[in-house]
Amino acid sequence: MLIKKPFNIPDSGITEESLFLSRRQLIQSVTGLVIAGTSTGLLAAPTPAATTGRTLPNVRPSRLSTDVPPNRYEDVSTYNNFYEFGTSKEEPALYAGQMRTQPWTVQIEGEVKKTGKYALDDLLKSLVLEERIYRFRCVEAWSMVVPWVGVSLQELIKRLEPTSRAKYVEFTTLYDPAQMPGQQRAVLDWPYVEGLRIDEATHPLSILAVGMYGKVLPNQNGAPLRLIAPWKYGFKNIKSIVKIRFTETQPTTTWMRAGPNEYGFFANVNPEVDHPRWSQAKERRLGEIFKQKTLPFNGYADQVAGLYSGMDLRKYF
Ligand code: MTE
Repeated sequence: MLIKKPFNIPDSGITEESLFLSRRQLIQSVTGLVIAGTSTGLLAAPTPAATTGRTLPNVRPSRLSTDVPPNRYEDVSTYNNFYEFGTSKEEPALYAGQMRTQPWTVQIEGEVKKTGKYALDDLLKSLVLEERIYRFRCVEAWSMVVPWVGVSLQELIKRLEPTSRAKYVEFTTLYDPAQMPGQQRAVLDWPYVEGLRIDEATHPLSILAVGMYGKVLPNQNGAPLRLIAPWKYGFKNIKSIVKIRFTETQPTTTWMRAGPNEYGFFANVNPEVDHPRWSQAKERRLGEIFKQKTLPFNGYADQVAGLYSGMDLRKYF
C-alpha cells in the first residue's frame, strides 16, 4: 500500500532512469548530435509540455546560486513526483498538462494582516524575479541541480504583515480531482499540505518558484507557484500552491500523516539520519551513474545550521 510505503524503492527505482539518461548522453557525446526522428524508444524522451513555455522577463541572477552545473531540462521535467497526477515518475509529465494554471488565486489566511484571495500576479507584483540555481535532494536518494526562477519568500511574507503570533507557515496545493486524477484515489490525504517554521520561511534561501530554466514552470514541476527550500528533502517543496496560512501551532503535513515515523516536519537533509527503510548517506544525481555523498543540509549548512542550534536533529528529523 502506498500509504504505508509511500516511497518504496528509493534507489533501484532510479537506477534504470540514470542508466537510460547516461546512455543517451553517451550516444549523444559519441555521435555529437541528437538524431531527431530516429526514435528507437531508447532515444525518444517525451517532450515536456513547457519546452516552449513563455520566457520570463527581467530575471536577475542571484549570488545565492550554486556553481554546480545544472541538470538538463529534460531530466528535471520528465522525472517527477506529483502524486496528484499519479505515483510513477513519468505520469506527471504525461498528465499534468491538463491542469489550468490561469487564472490562479492564492488565499492568504490566519495570523497575518493582509488576508484575502489574491490573483497570483497581484500577490507577486513588483517582487524581484531571481534565478536561483539550487541543489535539490529527494528523500528517495536522487538529486538534481535546477535553475529555478522565483521570488524571495521573505519579501512576500514581509509584505503580508504576519502578526506576532505567526510561528509557522502552512501551504496547501490545489484540490480538484477532475483536473488532478491522482486525487481520485486515497494514496495521500488530499489536499497536499506542507509547512515551514516562520524563521525557515523567511530565510533568504527560501523562494516561491514560478519558473525554471528561464521559462514558466512546466505543470509537472508545480506550476504556477511552488515552494523551494533547498536544504530540505524534496517533499517539503510543495507544488501548485493555492493557500498560504500563518499559524501559531505547527501544521500537520501530508507526509507526517502518511508515515509519522518516516517523514518529520523538519525534513532537513541529513546523511546521518537514515530513513527507516534506507540509507540517506548517498545520493545519485539524475543522469549520473555513480553515487555521491549527501551533504548535511544538502550543502547549505553554512547558511541554515544556525536555525536548528540546540535541537536534537535525530528527534526533529
Ligand atoms: N507537491 C505536491 N502537491 N504533490 C506531490 O506529490 N511531491 C513532492 C514535492 N512536492 C509532491 C509535491 C516530492 S516527494 C518531491 S521529491 C518534489 O515535489 C519533486 O519535485 P519535482 O517533480 O519538481 O522534481
